[in-house]
Amino acid sequence: MRRLLFTLTLLSLTSAGAALADDEQQLIQKGEYLARAGDCVACHTRIHGKPFAGGLAIKSPVGVIYSTNITPDKRDGIGAYTLDEFSQAVRRGIRKDGSALYPAMPYPSYSRLSDDDIAALYAYFMHGVKAEAVENKEADIPWPLSMRWPLSLWRMTFAPDAAPFDASKYPDATVARGAYLVQGLGHCGSCHTPRGFALQEQALDETQGEAWLAGGSVIDGWSVPSLRGDNDNGLGRWSVGELAHYLKTGRTDNTAAFGAMSDVVSWSTRYLTDADLHAMARYLKTLPAGPSPAEKAAPPPAAVARAGEQVYMDNCAMCHGRQGEGIARMFPKLRQNSAVTGPLPDSLVKIIREGATLPADNWAPSTVSMPAYANTLSAQQTADLVNYLRSAWGHRSAADITARDVEKMAAAHGSGNDNTTGWLMMEAQPYGKHWTFQMESHAEAQDPAK
Ligand code: HEC
Ligand code: HEC
Ligand code: HEC
Repeated sequence: MRRLLFTLTLLSLTSAGAALADDEQQLIQKGEYLARAGDCVACHTRIHGKPFAGGLAIKSPVGVIYSTNITPDKRDGIGAYTLDEFSQAVRRGIRKDGSALYPAMPYPSYSRLSDDDIAALYAYFMHGVKAEAVENKEADIPWPLSMRWPLSLWRMTFAPDAAPFDASKYPDATVARGAYLVQGLGHCGSCHTPRGFALQEQALDETQGEAWLAGGSVIDGWSVPSLRGDNDNGLGRWSVGELAHYLKTGRTDNTAAFGAMSDVVSWSTRYLTDADLHAMARYLKTLPAGPSPAEKAAPPPAAVARAGEQVYMDNCAMCHGRQGEGIARMFPKLRQNSAVTGPLPDSLVKIIREGATLPADNWAPSTVSMPAYANTLSAQQTADLVNYLRSAWGHRSAADITARDVEKMAAAHGSGNDNTTGWLMMEAQPYGKHWTFQMESHAEAQDPAK
């Protein structure tokens, strides 16, 4: 009898143990998924570096900041962080030693993560990530800007403790889930919302005004479109299905992801479930049009338009079509494409000069490329082409780009093949238009041929 009891107790103990391990395993898996949704790997991994071991250089207006090692290594990583300390760092921008983090870490967005999700992320970083003994690098920021204490002031002013995410504000549970992902882990606003004078995002959700996801900045040469309901620069013409599909594959029948957005799709959104992508799309489609669109611009002089049209027919029409109609899922439409019609011509100039490659993936296996024209077209031809495209096919975007503008953008964008498909460039008024928060890209790491 005793023996039986003993066996029974043992049995129930071991099955409880197994259940616990299962729960733990599930929590780690959930954390891994959330880490994808938060794109932690993109910033916390150096080119050719160990995953999450930090060291990626992020240029900022004040100097270069390096992301840190967030593997569970006890000395170099965050192995000694408690759950509470981890939560403080991710949601409030406060390090274990009490100092403030640079806002290059998007904690103002992550501040709305739920306690459950933070616990899952913590479980993943402690038990699902390999510890790497890679030392952190100090930021190359000259004194006195290198002092961290002013960052605490910044944090208090611009990233006040967010109220917990309130799902009841939204029409249904799906839209609420989408809002949670877009505003929180997705940190879509860190690129798609314009920045204010101190580099703070002008809005962190739809209740804070029309600046929310209104686009309008330039990230390493790529102009960022609005994700609001506008037609020419926004998602007004997109269906929920198209949007979800774009986040999964980087393309729709009309358009394709490039530049910084190509990184977002390849490192983050393509790993999300269809249900979550659908929820994000549903939420984005609830946003009304943004601040009143710019006046329709006058078309360029006929001679300029004719010169530009000639360049287009000779170089572009074979892929993008004589009327900019493209070929579904191969060559994006240029008609009504935000890269063409958006308020800023930067993406258009940059993609013409540097070309782009649509990454292949499981859902869309073909890699198709757009050639680079920096050595084929002169600055004048590029300007004519841009002015033509911005006024062709019913477009009414400002068509007054000069050869000098093209040269300036080319200089600001760099040489093209330097693998700095950047990240986080913000227009910060006090520093001037072209100050950037940009980082090295993973383009090279992604390309096994290099
Ligand atoms: C846009 C870039 C970016 C993304 C995305 C990002 N981080 Fe960070 N993170 C940084 C930078 C840069 C720092 C260092 C800031 C500093 O030194 O002040 C940092 C610091 C941290 C720290 C403090 C580490 C320490 O050494 O004390 C933690 C923890 C952290 N990040 C976790 C995460 C997690 C978890 C995610 C994903 C949910 C994430 N980060 C996503 C850029 C990023
Ligand atoms: C690192 C900066 C960055 C982040 C973060 C980012 N985006 Fe983008 N996004 C861009 C850039 C640059 C473009 C323009 C290039 C393009 O159209 O592919 C863009 C384009 C888009 C487009 C295409 C719009 C159009 O008119 O063609 C959609 C949709 C989009 N982003 C959604 C999102 C969502 C949703 C998130 C958050 C999960 C997000 N983005 C996060 C930089 C970013
Ligand atoms: C060989 C075929 C080809 C030619 C020729 C070509 N392109 Fe492209 N173009 C592409 C492909 C493929 C993409 C998608 C690249 C990506 O998203 O990474 C693209 C993307 C673009 C985009 C971004 C649109 C979007 O939504 O992704 C613009 C703008 C563009 N091309 C303009 C031009 C112009 C202007 C010319 C002529 C100077 C030109 N292209 C010549 C194949 C071509």
